[in-house]
Amino acid sequence: MLAMLVLAGCGHASTAAKPPVLAASAPPPAASAPTAAGQPPDLEYHMRVSFWSAVEARDALIDGDLARVHERTNYLATQRFDALPERWRYWLGEMQTAAREGSMAPNTDEAAQWVAEIALSCGSCHGYSRQAPERIPQATLPPAAEPEALAQRMQRHAQAAQDLWVGLAEPSDAAWQRGARTLNEASPQPPVHNGEPVDPAVLEQLDQVKAFGLRAVLARTPHQRAQVYGELLARCPRCHTNMVRPHP
Ligand code: HEC
Ligand code: HEC
Repeated sequence: MLAMLVLAGCGHASTAAKPPVLAASAPPPAASAPTAAGQPPDLEYHMRVSFWSAVEARDALIDGDLARVHERTNYLATQRFDALPERWRYWLGEMQTAAREGSMAPNTDEAAQWVAEIALSCGSCHGYSRQAPERIPQATLPPAAEPEALAQRMQRHAQAAQDLWVGLAEPSDAAWQRGARTLNEASPQPPVHNGEPVDPAVLEQLDQVKAFGLRAVLARTPHQRAQVYGELLARCPRCHTNMVRPHP
C-alpha cells in the first residue's frame, strides 16, 4: 500500500504547495532583464524574481528534491543587489549567507534549517524597513472531516507550511498563529487512503508533524520560530523521499 501512496506522492508539491510568498500574486515570469539596458535590477525586480527563488527552494525541499534546493538557493546567493540602498546590506548579507549554506547543505535536514533562515532574513529586513504591510492570509481550509482523507491532511500540511512561511517572511504574527492552528486542528483519527486507515507507522509520522502546531504556538521570537519551521520542513522530505520512486 505504501508503494501506491508513494507513486502518487512524487512531484506533488510543485502542483499543490505553490501559493505566493506574501499572499501577493502569481509567480513572476522567468527572469528577463526588467530595467533599461545597463541598469542594475531594482527592488521590485528582486522581490518578484530573485526572491521568488526562496519559495521555489522551499517547495523543492518539501518535494525532497535536494538538487533543486541547491540550485535555487545558489541562484539567490549569487544575485547582485547593487541598486539597493546601502543601509540594507546587512540584511541582504544575512539572506545570502543562509542561501549559500543552503546551496551546500549535505542533506534535506540541514537544507530545511537554512531555508527557514532565509525566510527569517526576509522578515528581518521587512520588519526593519517597515514598508511591507502585514497582509493577513485569506484562504481557509474547510473543517476537518472525521476521519480526514490522507490527501486532505496533506493539504493541511501545505497550508500550514505556507502560513508559517508568511509568518516568518512578512513577518506576520497572524499568519504564524494561523499556521499553528491549521496543524493543531488535524483530526486525531488516522487519515484514510483508498478506504483504509493509514498504518500505524505512517500515523506516527503524521502525529509528529501535528505536534509542531503546539511548538509553533510556544515559539515567540523570530529565531525560535525559524528553528521550529526548519524542523517542521525537514519532516516533509524525510517521508516523501522514503517512498519508492518509479525511476530511481
Ligand atoms: C534588504 C531588505 C529586504 C530583504 C532581505 C527582503 N526584502 Fe522583500 N521587500 C523589502 C521592502 C523594503 C519591500 C517593500 C517594497 C515596497 O513596498 O515598495 C519588500 C517587499 C516584498 C514583497 C512585496 C512585493 C510587491 O511588489 O508587493 C515581496 C513578495 C517580498 N518583499 C519578498 C521577499 C522575500 C521572499 C525575501 C527573502 C527571500 C525578501 N523579500 C527579502 C525589503 C527586503
Ligand atoms: C507520513 C509521511 C508524510 C509526511 C510526514 C508528509 N507527507 Fe506529504 N504526502 C505523503 C504521502 C503518502 C502523499 C501522497 C498522498 C496521496 O497519494 O494521496 C503525500 C502527498 C503530499 C501532497 C500532495 C497532496 C495532493 O493532494 O496530491 C502535499 C502537498 C504534501 N504531501 C505536503 C506535505 C508537507 C508540506 C509536509 C510537511 C509539513 C508533508 N507533506 C509531510 C506522506 C507524508
